[in-house]
Amino acid sequence: MPHDPSKHLVYINGELFPPDEAKISVFDSAVMLGDTVTESTRTFRHRPFKLDQHLDRLYKSLKVTRIDPGLSQAEMKELTLRVLQANLPHVPPDEDVWIVHNISRGRSVAGADPTKQRSQATVIAFTQPMILTDWARFYTEGCHAVTPMSRAVPPQSLDARIKNRSRMAYTLAEMEVKLVDPQAQGILLDLDGNVAENKGGNFFIVSEGVLKTPSTRSALAGISRATALELAAGLGIPAQVVDFQLYDIYTADEAFFTSTPYCIMPATRINGLPVSDGRVGGVTRRLLAAWSDLVGMDIAGQALRQLAAVETAQSLHPSNHTKKHTDG
Ligand SMILES: Cc1ncc(COP(=O)(O)O)c(C=O)c1O
Repeated sequence: MPHDPSKHLVYINGELFPPDEAKISVFDSAVMLGDTVTESTRTFRHRPFKLDQHLDRLYKSLKVTRIDPGLSQAEMKELTLRVLQANLPHVPPDEDVWIVHNISRGRSVAGADPTKQRSQATVIAFTQPMILTDWARFYTEGCHAVTPMSRAVPPQSLDARIKNRSRMAYTLAEMEVKLVDPQAQGILLDLDGNVAENKGGNFFIVSEGVLKTPSTRSALAGISRATALELAAGLGIPAQVVDFQLYDIYTADEAFFTSTPYCIMPATRINGLPVSDGRVGGVTRRLLAAWSDLVGMDIAGQALRQLAAVETAQSLHPSNHTKKHTDG
């Protein structure tokens, strides 16, 4: 079972707090405006994966959004590792954590000039159990990818490379996806019908042996996307960063998402049609195996172990299971 997060301390502006005492102002621009940049890193075997790359992206987001965190990148790394070290003793050896950064412009004054940072930035860093149960089955079965009616926010409005918490557009799009199939994972298209990204992941297809992923014009420059491309290069799998449309997914040999928590999530159906024969493809499996080798653990195995533990607990205490569903 995923472990209890109640002992994980939360960093806010220089201090560590127990989660119940970790609070920010209701007037913070995070609350008032969704004016927050963010990062999510994960550990493998308790070691942060590509933390420097995540912090590079964070500092680019901060620069472009004109938020001054009041800390150098080296100081941010130091405090991040301090939070992680404080919390890892509560994490079982076969479990891992997210490391999340949320940095807002600080206290906001209603109607005031947003170009002025009115207090020090609100710098938050915390860890949470890496719970993979919702994605676990997809490693072997693949998921159903569905395109919502809503389109990705165009880069003319907001550059997709800024990793931010203004998530209303993506949240509503994902709700449209769940109307079609509650287990489906969304693929947003851009205004021209090109494939953009998932609300929290990038997207790839494999066609005639070539791996393809959209550019970062309408998609975050995912660290996992970069990892998949690096692993493909190491395996001699040709790859292209190229625009493609739904037609190309319908006719692809393989498809998958990439994101920090699950790394690679195969997609075996797209809008109700099977991708190729509807099974997880060979290139997808090779990339996931190479990723597991890179981090020294079985990525899918960790998720499947968590799922098995939850299912065992539910079979031992069926009333909890029923209650959860009626609550929902
Ligand atoms: C909109 C969006 N696209 C893609 C990704 C995947 O990025 P990464 O691989 O760095 O987790 C994320 C991650 O949260 C995201 O929010």
